[in-house]
Amino acid sequence: MNANELRSKYIEFFKSKQHAQIQGKSLLPDNDPTVLFTTAGMHPLVPYLLGQEHPAGKRLVDYQKCIRTGDIDSVGDPSHLTFFEMLGNWSLGDYFKEGAIRMSYEFLTSSEWLGIPAGKIGVTVFEGDDTVPRDEESASVWRSLGIPEERISYRPRSDNWWGPAGATGPCGPDSEMFYDFGKEPCGSECGPGCSCGKWLEIWNDVFMQYNKKADGTYEPLARTCVDTGMGIERTVTVLNGKKSVYDTDIFAESIASIGKAAGCVYGTDPEKDRSMRIIADHARAAAFILGDPKAVTPSNVGAGYVLRRLIRRAVRHGRKLGIEGTVFSPIMHIIIEQMAGPYPELIENKARIIEELNKEEKKFLETLHKGEKEFEKLVPNLLKNPQKIMSGRLAFKLYDTYGFPIELTSELAEESGLTVNREEFDEAFRKHQNLSRAGGGQAFKGGLIDHGEIATRYHSATHLLQQALRIVLGDHVAQKGSNITAERMRFDFSHDKPMTADEIARVEAIVNEQIRRDLPVTMEIMALDDAKASGAIALFGEKYDSQVKVYAMGDFSKEVCGGPHVEHTGVLGTFKIQKEQSSSAGVRRIRAALE
Ligand code: ALA
Repeated sequence: MNANELRSKYIEFFKSKQHAQIQGKSLLPDNDPTVLFTTAGMHPLVPYLLGQEHPAGKRLVDYQKCIRTGDIDSVGDPSHLTFFEMLGNWSLGDYFKEGAIRMSYEFLTSSEWLGIPAGKIGVTVFEGDDTVPRDEESASVWRSLGIPEERISYRPRSDNWWGPAGATGPCGPDSEMFYDFGKEPCGSECGPGCSCGKWLEIWNDVFMQYNKKADGTYEPLARTCVDTGMGIERTVTVLNGKKSVYDTDIFAESIASIGKAAGCVYGTDPEKDRSMRIIADHARAAAFILGDPKAVTPSNVGAGYVLRRLIRRAVRHGRKLGIEGTVFSPIMHIIIEQMAGPYPELIENKARIIEELNKEEKKFLETLHKGEKEFEKLVPNLLKNPQKIMSGRLAFKLYDTYGFPIELTSELAEESGLTVNREEFDEAFRKHQNLSRAGGGQAFKGGLIDHGEIATRYHSATHLLQQALRIVLGDHVAQKGSNITAERMRFDFSHDKPMTADEIARVEAIVNEQIRRDLPVTMEIMALDDAKASGAIALFGEKYDSQVKVYAMGDFSKEVCGGPHVEHTGVLGTFKIQKEQSSSAGVRRIRAALE
């Protein structure tokens, strides 16, 4: 079974269990100060998991493109990827543990569906702690389905609790499903969840029972929910009888093409294999980031920095393999073609993907060679020092002069037996750039959406701003992205020249006028076509479900949007545009604050 067949079967199975299929969303979450990318299928559903009604009902199913960069250093091993697809089904106050587990088991083992032998499945459940009891309920459902005791592991919060540390949002204990590769157990403690290579996690059923608040306390949810996530690449690995995600059909063509360019054969040299896998993964991630309707281009902050880092790392591994010239061009066509069925945005944005990759690749290649030479010159001296440390100053010079992302320098250093003084680098970096928080290392971790009061106010302000821009600059203005922190909002929109001081003042005045009018904010659920016909603004190129929410702010603005929003505009305070600048070709960026 290949990835396309698995995707279709999953949707078909859950539809047969009365789930409504909804559209997966952008890789770049809107109005979310805590994450750079969508890292799980549940991200776009947070408001619904917290209690809002979903227009499509209480049982949902979808496939979602995801990026996780927390494990980027493990990419190239058998199971880690930065870009992956997640299949998910949700219960919003409908079925809970028993229903979810029974359906998971049926889909995995029934010969009508995946037909994985029941004897190859092992599971984990939450072992309990001071605050939440041991999950005997899930364990007993698994037992009743015939999973024997030795293939049910009780595990601590660090393994069987969903809701990334530190973040706020819906969370709860989970039960994970593993495939047994049949290797000998690594010891007496080896069971599902053990990382020795015997077990591969393929699916996770999360039982959402709490909302973790900013002060760290857990508040029970008004209704319990189920959030599940099945990794497509890992499940195809199992279904194809392979040991590594990179050995499946998903990567076969790309890896063969990289091998052709490099003049080597996959599977003959572990070091080269690793480089080929890194290129195949990073190229896929870069294609999806650049192909997203909310265009991000390589830069030195936030998601743009992650993109730059992925591209440059792939380019360096290309050179390591001896590829002269472009690393991306040949495989990009393969990736786009292969994924365009479920993700038509890749075809729509193909020109941009290729152009931006070429540009970034060229820019980096111009200095990479010199940077590598410089690096090599430094190594013998650095190796003489007993601690084998490369100073942060030197690492910063490589960044500043040759465009080496720090992670790349660290990787190069490690290959030569050196460690980079990261603290010193960070200090030099901060001094030089005075970066926004989103550019720092912490932004690479996953996290949940903060629907705090301040974020909600800023979110509502983006609707007023977009409408005011359309009034002052014209109807060509369309939202291209937005990002909110506790201190400010950033709003990207299509417009091909700088705004004049007068235009900025007028936009500001119009927004403040709407705040003073204290417009009521109302929400209506309607069919997408009706919403568009009623004049509601929808994001061009974004995928929406057939039933959508439309938020109106009095008679002033109407947008298709998931919310949440303030109840009336009077609570927003005073709106102030701090900066107007270019974001990328044909896109301007406004930073604004509510005071
Ligand atoms: N949100 C859960 C996960 O990503 C399903 O594992």
